[in-house]
Amino acid sequence: MRTKIQYAIFPLLITISMTVQAQSQANYDESKVPALVLPDPFVSEKGFLISNLADWENIRKPEIFNLFETEVYGILPKDFDSISFEKVNEKENPYPESADLEEVNIKVSRNGKSHTMRINLFLPKNQSGPFPIVLLINYEPTYTDGKLVKAEFWPVPELIKRGYATASFHVETVAPDNNDTYTTGIISTLYPEQIGMSNGMKAYGAWGWGAMRAMDYFDQHPQIDTKKSILVGHSRTGKAALWASANDPRWEITYANESGCGGAAISRRKYGETVEAINTRFPYWFADNFNKYNGKEETLPIDQHLLPGLIAPRAIYYSSAKGDQWADPKGEFLGIKLGSRVYSEIYGKRIEFPAEFETINSPIHQEAVGYHIREGEHNLTWEDWSHFLEFAQMNLN
Ligand code: GCU
Repeated sequence: MRTKIQYAIFPLLITISMTVQAQSQANYDESKVPALVLPDPFVSEKGFLISNLADWENIRKPEIFNLFETEVYGILPKDFDSISFEKVNEKENPYPESADLEEVNIKVSRNGKSHTMRINLFLPKNQSGPFPIVLLINYEPTYTDGKLVKAEFWPVPELIKRGYATASFHVETVAPDNNDTYTTGIISTLYPEQIGMSNGMKAYGAWGWGAMRAMDYFDQHPQIDTKKSILVGHSRTGKAALWASANDPRWEITYANESGCGGAAISRRKYGETVEAINTRFPYWFADNFNKYNGKEETLPIDQHLLPGLIAPRAIYYSSAKGDQWADPKGEFLGIKLGSRVYSEIYGKRIEFPAEFETINSPIHQEAVGYHIREGEHNLTWEDWSHFLEFAQMNLN
């Protein structure tokens, strides 16, 4: 008979061994990357050339948004009946000297049902606001017993020192990061009609929805300046942050760290994680329609280089790690470099990227668009934050 611990450990071991297997079987050979033929950002579905702001915003941008919504991420529903905010006080503040902690329950109702999500917000003490806000969508444990569990991942004291308010929510508070239980949050309670739809909301829609509700709280907070707002996600939540920002123009800067396949990286490169690999291991992240492109990335009507254009002209920042080949650093770089064409050609931003990925030796901080690659493994580190915060300083209006 199996013990409880065995029951807990077996699924974990299976997941780890599937990960190792998927990662070791992936393509890491640049010579096997197919020649890139990418959908053109500036040719509409009917074949019209898009060369001015009005045509971009009225024709091409909505087309690209619809394709990402239907074929990749699924719907992020915007409607609900009511929202209310309640400050609770359950955890010890780890930074009583420098910050005030607000633990907030956000209760949202729709069609007679309600769901409550939790955010944790730190506000600078002894500094005068309103403060710019940094929100991290978190899938790591946040803090327990008055301590941050992974201090580098969410460097609260450093952000406070620089005059930011900063908040985080754990994905579990809106949709668990688990194939068996992801609907148990807002999906089955507030938006049950999405279940089973081929373009229906899944975890990324739900996590993005959580970021929108956090923004609703900040929007009415007298100590927060939402004109200066930054949305941050790492890896799986980097993908969610990008989709959230494409849906919600209230974010002034969006930062996706090592977001890889289905985030920053070009799917057609088939380098590191592929569409099939991600859909097989995480069938609850993207819309069901995304499965149509398993092994057939070249048939996608869009690719990830078109995603920054949905956020433009608001600032966007990507980063990679050299040891994180699974996320395809070169594909991430190309995602932002090619994606920045909307910023320069439609919105007139001054942008110049190096011609070759291989020649990058320092962060590339341009007007509204930035990128860095660092040594080391897959993680959100202080080095990532410090490069990003320099960019943010330059780009907060
Ligand atoms: C897995 C997954 C990635 C994801 C990463 C993470 O490696 O394959 O797509 O970005 O987990 O979230 O750390």
